Amino acid sequence: MIEKRDDAAPWASVIPPSDVLVCLLTDTIDAAAIDAAGPDLRLIANVAVGYNNIDLAAARARGVIVTNTPGVLTNATAEFTWALILAVTRRLTEGERLLRSGRWRGWALDLLTGMELSGKQLGIIGAGRIGRAVAAKAGAFGMRVAFAARDRRRDPIDGHAVVSLDELLVRSDVVSLHVPLTDETRHLIGRKALTRMRRTAYLVNTSRGPVVDEAALVWALHERLIAGAALDVYEREPEVHPGLLELDQVVLQPHTASATRETRTAMAELAVRNVAAVLAGDPPVTPVPEP
Ligand code: DGY
Repeated sequence: MIEKRDDAAPWASVIPPSDVLVCLLTDTIDAAAIDAAGPDLRLIANVAVGYNNIDLAAARARGVIVTNTPGVLTNATAEFTWALILAVTRRLTEGERLLRSGRWRGWALDLLTGMELSGKQLGIIGAGRIGRAVAAKAGAFGMRVAFAARDRRRDPIDGHAVVSLDELLVRSDVVSLHVPLTDETRHLIGRKALTRMRRTAYLVNTSRGPVVDEAALVWALHERLIAGAALDVYEREPEVHPGLLELDQVVLQPHTASATRETRTAMAELAVRNVAAVLAGDPPVTPVPEP
């Protein structure tokens, strides 16, 4: 295990010559880090499904395999997404803060009224494993689902409607993000997208922080252009935009969507299986797909 005393120091300054690097989503494995590992490096095994922390092009150019941990965290992340949807629409964290502060004066007809989910539309951006697992649980709450499609194809996904991004933003009561972080998805939700959402709608992000322009989100929440947001991920983790911390209508969690004992164990085991396979000269179990 390699430790960095100085968080700001690049990994390249501490990585010794290695055959395999096992890394977390918080480790930036750029070209310099890959070079530091030396010419024997065969595998970078990320213990995460997302792999935006790794310079894939640099790894491929040096013939280094990159693996991630898809599948094993799908259910945990989908369950957590529903926890966030319920928390923000039913104002759970606001209620708890009120109660703990000693300011609660008892039952009142209009105390902390939220939005009921039944009969509403859940708009899911990203129809990968996690987005589809979130959609699969929507029926339990009586919500209809729409997915956003990048291209012109509009074939239903798992029986759910597929619409344009704009139509999804305009018509959904809850918008939930399940896309990887790429050049295309960075700041996908900025001022323009937020102004297309309903004033009564909620934004939920369990994907990657930079998919949302946090400054634009703070602006939209201040202007009451949307009703609230629930976030598990941030643009500059572990920093959180100070404007978000001040707002009551925001639920903030510390990137724990996959944090169940079952899932974190399965993620570690899958990374180890990838290491064992590559060191034995076998194909990796879950290679990151070619672009
Ligand atoms: C991932 O694996 O990419 C998640 O963000 C952490 O569980």
